[in-house]
Amino acid sequence: MMKLDTTHALLKQSIESYQDKVNQLHKVIFERTGAGNDYMGWVDWADTYDKAEFARILEVANKVKDKAEVLLVCGIGGSYLGARAAIEMIQGLYSDNKREVIFIGNTFSSTYVSQVLKHIQDKSVVLNVISKSGTTTETALAFRVLREFMEKKYGKQECKERIIATTDKARGTLKALADKEGYETFVIPDDIGGRYSVITPVGLVPMAIMGIDIQQVMKGLHDAYVALNTADLNKNPAYQYAVARRILQNQGYDVEMFVAYEPQLAMLAEWWKQLLGESEGKDGKGILPDSANFSTDLHSLGQFIQEGKKVLFETILEVETPTEDLLVPNDEENSDQMNYLTGKSYDWVNKMACKGTIEAHEVTGGVPNLVITIPDMKEYAFGYLCYFFFLATAMTCYMIDINPFNQPGVEIYKKNMFRLLGKPTK
Ligand code: PA5
Repeated sequence: MMKLDTTHALLKQSIESYQDKVNQLHKVIFERTGAGNDYMGWVDWADTYDKAEFARILEVANKVKDKAEVLLVCGIGGSYLGARAAIEMIQGLYSDNKREVIFIGNTFSSTYVSQVLKHIQDKSVVLNVISKSGTTTETALAFRVLREFMEKKYGKQECKERIIATTDKARGTLKALADKEGYETFVIPDDIGGRYSVITPVGLVPMAIMGIDIQQVMKGLHDAYVALNTADLNKNPAYQYAVARRILQNQGYDVEMFVAYEPQLAMLAEWWKQLLGESEGKDGKGILPDSANFSTDLHSLGQFIQEGKKVLFETILEVETPTEDLLVPNDEENSDQMNYLTGKSYDWVNKMACKGTIEAHEVTGGVPNLVITIPDMKEYAFGYLCYFFFLATAMTCYMIDINPFNQPGVEIYKKNMFRLLGKPTK
């Protein structure tokens, strides 16, 4: 389903040489004995997820779908990125879906929030607010503004049919508010952290409302859970990837650039950046996750990658079959001199650009390239890919003695901001 090609990775050590270490850490992951083990619910989530709640997601999505000319998803970080990554990857950026999804609660930008409010003024809106803690300021503030908007537009009673809260099962301001107002609620499990939560109602509710087949997402997740539950480095591409990253960092590469050749994967790259960055960037360790969309960014970042300081390696996510394709038309006069491509598929051109770039970066530029291949950008592939990266993240972090499931550093800006905002201390 997913393959890792290290042919262009310029590895100076073999991946297999890490087999003993991987054997040991594989047990740590699947027996949940490592740091952060309270947050490893994702490991067997494909088996253990609440089936009744899943059925309720489908039911609620079905019920609100026709009311949602616009679906507003209010959340940030792990309560935002996964759903957006999934919807864009699976549906593309200009699909024929009549429903529009807008993400909010992920910024303090007054212009952004004001423009969203104006944009949805005359549209039929359904709102899914998502916050595990229920107290995240960006989300809570936007939700206050949106609640006022929704109550004015629909009245409190109708809001019960149009506002869905995804939050902790018992704790937090959002849970209390949702119960008081009678909103439909879905649970974020205690033992799955934000950046691992796209496979829970956090991601599944918005996906289902947008018409994504979430059963296929869970099938992909499940099949990855089965296929990747092996320590054998010859059989587990997620662990191969985890090890290759460590070898490359040992060779001096402290930046990893996630590269896709499909604009609909740009948000997947953002999701991946959070997953790796927040999991690994601690104790002065870790690889800085960065991303680029090629060939677009070959006309900007390409110069640095090719000839700049040798700080980065690339991880390319290659898609075998695009969601759509078209053929290059013929031009009798060939006035644009493009007839050498007549009859070729656009995707073939894209693939040749990828091939040529890997060669340029690896051979001429000396930049290591890891290539991960997925068959397509559909639901099943998304579910599979989530598990692949969760597992790879756990392994690659444990390899350098990092807890992959906490994020102590993100609290510091909040403390300063609360002081400046004059937030009352209890
Ligand atoms: O990965 C994480 O834990 C964070 O990115 C959180 O998801 C993010 O801060 C949002 O938190 P919450 O869902 O509590 O509003």
